[in-house]
Amino acid sequence: MPPLIATTIPDCRAAIHTAKSAGQRVGLVPTMGALHAGHLSLIERARAETGFVVVSIFVNPTQFGPKEDLSRYPRPFERDVELCSQAGVDLILNPTPETMYGYDFKTYVEIHDLQNVLCGASRSGHFRGVATVVLKLFNIVQPDIAFFGQKDAQQALLLSRMVRDLNVPVEMAICPIVREPDGLAMSSRNVYLNASERTSAPVLFRVLSALRYAVVAGERDVAALIGQTTALIAATPHMRIDYIAVVDCDTLTPLTLVHGNVLVALAVFVGATRLIDNIMLVV
Ligand code: PAF
Repeated sequence: MPPLIATTIPDCRAAIHTAKSAGQRVGLVPTMGALHAGHLSLIERARAETGFVVVSIFVNPTQFGPKEDLSRYPRPFERDVELCSQAGVDLILNPTPETMYGYDFKTYVEIHDLQNVLCGASRSGHFRGVATVVLKLFNIVQPDIAFFGQKDAQQALLLSRMVRDLNVPVEMAICPIVREPDGLAMSSRNVYLNASERTSAPVLFRVLSALRYAVVAGERDVAALIGQTTALIAATPHMRIDYIAVVDCDTLTPLTLVHGNVLVALAVFVGATRLIDNIMLVV
């Protein structure tokens, strides 16, 4: 059966009320559309763990900076509906910006400290927009479980923190990164890469893997690890580093020595396209 499509909040709530009345657990996969295998893995997990799967497709304006790609962000809605249909999604929530934000919106969620580092340092206001829209989606859908990808590691951490701090009654499921055969992390923004940039892009996962091997071989000095990683990226065509960070997984505090639960995260412009990737280390 093709999924129901709700563009209004009352329609969405009515469909979810029916599912919950029938005793089904509701899973939510929040997306901005342009679905790829990474999203499909979240939907598959939602299917396995809940009885009624909701995918929200909403390109959220409040998480884009004024010079970012809001207007050209891919919106292949019919293809997304087809993919959701094949994946067994029950309901697509596809609201307009006006439905989500009205004309006089004033309330935002801030996650202090965590929101202004790593991606937040160069994308001012980004995580405030993400947290706000996700809390709204949680309030509209009231899912039992929400599914997010580990590729956006900082987003996953912030949202988990928001859920904890604000007592939001939802279970967070953070799912592994899905990669192309050459290691490039799946992203809706990969479609922006031209052929030559696409050839260079897998270096991001190669440098993260090389860093992991260096740590396994005994290197603990973060400055040395970042130096090697920077050199490898700089030697690849089209690359401009935004950041490479080795931080504590929970606090995002920069480390000088690799120890404990560690997140190695990077953001790199490949041509004009900013891509992110990360690995976790337990040392
Ligand atoms: O990860 C994304 O696609 C977005 O940040 C999200 C969580 C759907 C909020 O707009």
